[in-house]
Amino acid sequence: VQRMEALSLDGQRVLIREDLNVPVKDGKVSSDARIRAAVPTIQKALDAGAQVMLMSHLGRPVEGDYDEQFSLGPVAEHLSTLLDLPVRLVADWREGVTVNAGEVVLLENVRFNVGEKKNTDELAKAYAALCDVFVMDAFGTAHRAQASTHGVARFAAQACAGPLLAGELEALEKALASPARPMVAIVGGSKVSTKLEVLDALSDKVDQLIVGGGIANTFLAAAGHPVGKSLCEHDLLDEARRIGAKTHIPLPTDVVTATAFAEDAEPRRCAVDEVGPEDMILDIGPESAAAMGDLLKNAGTILWNGPVGVFEFDSFAGGTESLARAIADSVAFSLAGGGDTLAAIDKFAIADKVSYISTGGGAFLEYVEGKVLPAVAVLEERALEQ
Ligand code: 3PG
Repeated sequence: VQRMEALSLDGQRVLIREDLNVPVKDGKVSSDARIRAAVPTIQKALDAGAQVMLMSHLGRPVEGDYDEQFSLGPVAEHLSTLLDLPVRLVADWREGVTVNAGEVVLLENVRFNVGEKKNTDELAKAYAALCDVFVMDAFGTAHRAQASTHGVARFAAQACAGPLLAGELEALEKALASPARPMVAIVGGSKVSTKLEVLDALSDKVDQLIVGGGIANTFLAAAGHPVGKSLCEHDLLDEARRIGAKTHIPLPTDVVTATAFAEDAEPRRCAVDEVGPEDMILDIGPESAAAMGDLLKNAGTILWNGPVGVFEFDSFAGGTESLARAIADSVAFSLAGGGDTLAAIDKFAIADKVSYISTGGGAFLEYVEGKVLPAVAVLEERALEQ
């Protein structure tokens, strides 16, 4: 693909797609790893004399509606501190955007725009019209063929890969070319429906799969255990059974539950079969965490995506912390990715003990599965033409 560093950006209108999809709490960015990862790219473009416009999504708002809780306002503020420059948030960019000297412009959440997810030509052309050069740098969103990641790259005068995207692809390729065995993957988190497919593909590649969070609940329910009011995809139980039949997936034997999803909810540890109808499983229990930690000890390569419990709440952070420590202590080559995973790595301060940290969550997993990332494929097509 064409690389940003190979283009002359002086005086050019440069639109950079970053993945600034970070957790925001009470109007403030609560984990800024993805924003920090984007800074070197932005700085390089500024140093090269570009007029810099940025775009990103945040969360999953209802398309077409402005919704303050998904505004990139807090991200603009945070980025401005990191860059030591004003970052102006622009919601109304359709008529064109003027970037003033000494500032960076951030377009409001692309998922407020009708056509973003459907990748309409109309919206993709509107983004393309804003710039002379489109830089795709959002590795974390490269698995989505959306107007701001894929469509715009088809229509922009020039399209290239930014240094963060290119660096991620190179590092992952190197790490996965011939991974040390056994290879263990930990897949947790709450996005169950999207991750079952990933688990299906991973089950053919890795030697051991560890599941946590809503995914583990779905597997527990599929195996006939009670899950009460836990996050669980009841319509995917057959699918979970099919995957479970192919690969041995060790399920938790004990869990930590509560009757409310709240920071101050009373935690209760119990065996998996003692989960009551009003209970929500919010973490794996210590016995399960220890057994899973043992699997990690003998691993040659560890892939980690997704926490195994609600680690943001201290009472339900034990399982994720214990696995994080096992990864940190392991001699295996460890690769971690995903928004919540990065937040957990920050929280338990193990960043320097993880061999490679990717800004991608779903994108990281799809890359590991061997899938084509559409936003990268379109850059390859453009490179052939340019
Ligand atoms: C992520 O957090 O994995 C990326 O930002 C993509 O977000 P999405 O799953 O909402 O498309």
